[in-house]
Amino acid sequence: MTSEEMFPASDFDAWAGHYDQSIREESVFPFDGYNRVLENIIEWAAVSNRKSVLDLGTGTGNLALLFAKQGCQLVCTDFSQSMLVLARGKLPQANFFLHDLRFPLPLDERRFDAIVSAYVFHHFPLTQKIEICLRLVNELLAQGGRLVIGDISFRSFSTKEEFKQTIPDWEDEFYWFADESLEALRQAGLRARYQQVSACAGVYEIRSGG
Ligand SMILES: C[S@@+](CC[C@H](N)C(=O)[O-])C[C@H]1O[C@@H](n2cnc3c(N)ncnc32)[C@H](O)[C@@H]1O
Repeated sequence: MTSEEMFPASDFDAWAGHYDQSIREESVFPFDGYNRVLENIIEWAAVSNRKSVLDLGTGTGNLALLFAKQGCQLVCTDFSQSMLVLARGKLPQANFFLHDLRFPLPLDERRFDAIVSAYVFHHFPLTQKIEICLRLVNELLAQGGRLVIGDISFRSFSTKEEFKQTIPDWEDEFYWFADESLEALRQAGLRARYQQVSACAGVYEIRSGG
């Protein structure tokens, strides 16, 4: 099955109405450390008043809202119409696009001071993650800007294997493994650093290698 078939937009439309209830279960996989992940993204994105931020897979807008509170100007995308409806309610000043982030964003020559994303990229295999990161950094990030991604992530495949023994009914998705992901990003010519935030989540800061 391809990632398109595994994670269709209709699944997220169905989740939208109770998504904010799911993330309140903060001590439970997959959202163990959710708020700390968002805070870490804010810290590493290092933007504030009037800076432009692109939030990919914004969902109900929780991460975007934290940037908006810092005075940033938000562009938010998601491929779920129902998620976007809820995010719009929280962020009346932001611009929204119904868009699948696996495809180029039609935003002309626009560049962003920071590009961020939370709990989205684990729907894509590693090669696709790297392709998307390269495109974002090369085509949409302003000079000196940062791409910051928080997601379900483990230090290594073996750490994930240990962790999954603690979770009933485990289902594998394309979770990040920091060791191989950092190496793949480096080989693609990008600079990256990683912070493990909880047992199952971490944050990547990615910059142009040039
Ligand atoms: C687990 S939610 C995370 C939402 C939000 N970023 C947060 O941290 O609360 C995943 C979101 O990614 C969106 N998404 C998944 N695959 C996507 C894709 N290929 N393109 C755009 N959005 C996608 C889903 O619709 C959903 O809103």
